[in-house]
Amino acid sequence: MTHILHLDTSPRAEQSHSRMLAQEFIEKWRDRHPQTKIIYRDLGLNPIPYIDATWIKAKFTPPDQYTPELVAAIKLSDELIDEFLAADRYVLSTPMYNFSIPAVLKSYIDYIVRPRRTFAVDANGFKGLVTDKKMLVITARGSDFSPGSALAPLDFQEPFLRTVFNFIGITDIQFINANKLNSNLREQSLAEAKTAIQDLAPCW
Ligand SMILES: Cc1cc2nc3c(=O)[nH]c(=O)nc-3n(C[C@H](O)[C@H](O)[C@H](O)COP(=O)(O)O)c2cc1C
Repeated sequence: MTHILHLDTSPRAEQSHSRMLAQEFIEKWRDRHPQTKIIYRDLGLNPIPYIDATWIKAKFTPPDQYTPELVAAIKLSDELIDEFLAADRYVLSTPMYNFSIPAVLKSYIDYIVRPRRTFAVDANGFKGLVTDKKMLVITARGSDFSPGSALAPLDFQEPFLRTVFNFIGITDIQFINANKLNSNLREQSLAEAKTAIQDLAPCW
């Protein structure tokens, strides 16, 4: 049975375009695959904290040497990683904030990118441990960062997300980017994103 982890990260609720588009994809997917197990985490409306010094100490301490303080510090990270690894597909929706991602998504990534759990390191270098997974990222941007546009070189969102999820082993990543949402071309952009969702859902 397919198991999808659906993550929303916009702090906006009904007004969020990225949430709405991800929901549309999930519904289209569920129509065709009603058996799919879908776990939902709303990082936008239920934010997680940031990592701190105790967490960093725990990250680099072998589990058999954990103190009760380190166990407590790493608990949320372990829960998020367990949830992440249990899924075989990911639907991630995110706004573009300041050319990149919202802080809560960066925090989530800081929690789940962990040695021994999602990546390994040896004499040959780094190796992602999250293999045989698929990811769909749906982004919402106020301006136009589409390929060939003037702002395209300033898109640090898609390259960052590709890099960090590739790093932990996820290489099959598709993006549906809704650009120009803060312009008079919003409706056209949303229609194009919905068409991309419609086209992808049957073959993802
Ligand atoms: C703090 C903040 C930073 C933003 N930075 C950018 C940006 O760098 N580039 C851009 O195109 N839009 C930017 N926007 C606009 C959002 O990407 C746009 O409104 C998007 O629709 C938000 O996603 P949502 O509708 O899912 O909440 C920013 C918005 C906020 C609130």
